[in-house]
Amino acid sequence: MTDTTAADATIASAKPAAKPARPFFSSGPCAKPPGWDAAKLASDSLGRSHRSKIGKARLAYCIDLMREMLNLPDTHRIGIVPGSDTGAFEMAMWTMLGARDVTTLAWESFGEGWVTDAVKQLKLEPTVLRADYGQLPDLDTVDWSNDVLFTWNGTTSGVRVPDGEWIADDREGLCFADATSAVFAYDLPWDKIDVATFSWQKVLGGEGAHGVLILGPRAVERLESYTPAWPLPKVFRLTKGGKLTEGVFKGETINTPSMLAVEDAIFALEWGKSIGGLHGMIARSDANAHALDKIVADRDWLGHLAVDSGIRSKTSVCLTVEGADTDFIKKMAGLLEKEGAALDIAGYRDAPPGLRIWCGATVDTADIQALGPWLDWAYATAKAG
Ligand SMILES: Cc1ncc(COP(=O)(O)O)c(C=O)c1O
Repeated sequence: MTDTTAADATIASAKPAAKPARPFFSSGPCAKPPGWDAAKLASDSLGRSHRSKIGKARLAYCIDLMREMLNLPDTHRIGIVPGSDTGAFEMAMWTMLGARDVTTLAWESFGEGWVTDAVKQLKLEPTVLRADYGQLPDLDTVDWSNDVLFTWNGTTSGVRVPDGEWIADDREGLCFADATSAVFAYDLPWDKIDVATFSWQKVLGGEGAHGVLILGPRAVERLESYTPAWPLPKVFRLTKGGKLTEGVFKGETINTPSMLAVEDAIFALEWGKSIGGLHGMIARSDANAHALDKIVADRDWLGHLAVDSGIRSKTSVCLTVEGADTDFIKKMAGLLEKEGAALDIAGYRDAPPGLRIWCGATVDTADIQALGPWLDWAYATAKAG
């Protein structure tokens, strides 16, 4: 077939024969768990009050499953809150910040969003540690007498923190981790985390709607001992009369949840449990990232935006494409979508032009492997066109 030469690689422009069986590589909402079908979701709680016996039982079961799957220690509470990951993280910011100085870390779009919240909305004057897309700021310079905000896995740059070693054991400030693309893909060191947030539509492949808020004991202490200077909307309020509203962490949600989203999350969690729990999920994500690494290593025209593999995401893997601008990426992604070979793989709008391929646990490794020849085809076709 006609070939295009890029760098040292020769790229076949023939359409590959086999397509990924499930071409869902979006970085959020992400692929549903293998075998998922809407008809398989339990429906007895639908059309019922979330405060009914069954409603409360399903919410509590969902919380229990998350706790079990995450190996969350008894020291940490876990609750379902409104507004997806953003709601959960902003709830934590609005209720706890202002008590001491703040440091915000940003190396991609979502971390930058928390900086904007801290500076422009809460009018705090945080120390901001930034790095360009593909890199991390120097974590060793973080002052842990401050409250510290960061994203565990930067979904739009594919850069994650290497581990929790840089988080001081004797910190005076609180550690706030937006961990939405990290939870269920890494073994998180809960003793280092005072606040963590995530949403179901990432590694679990659940539905968007609700956020999950995890609070360590020092975060609860802050909530019970500190009243922020600004007003708190009802959906952010976690205390009453100076005491934590414990019901939120038992399934008594602040306002009405989508029980359909809850049932869907339960399906995903039960699937996760069936494949070996957290470590089974981590293994699938690792295998996917490894398969994608091989595709990148075999092609001179593809690269990792995060050059350092020690800080490279295993979920939202961001790739550079030689010579590509936004239009070229759009063309490639459009070609692949039209063929049904890969959906939603253009990089995030604020990130440098490139591809972003979700490697979380709900993606099948065989589908990542099948993607390689399709990337070749799309690259060659976009170049030729
Ligand atoms: C790191 C990070 N933080 C926050 C968000 C916002 O999440 P949500 O849409 O669940 O509010 C995302 C979404 O992709 C994200 O990747």
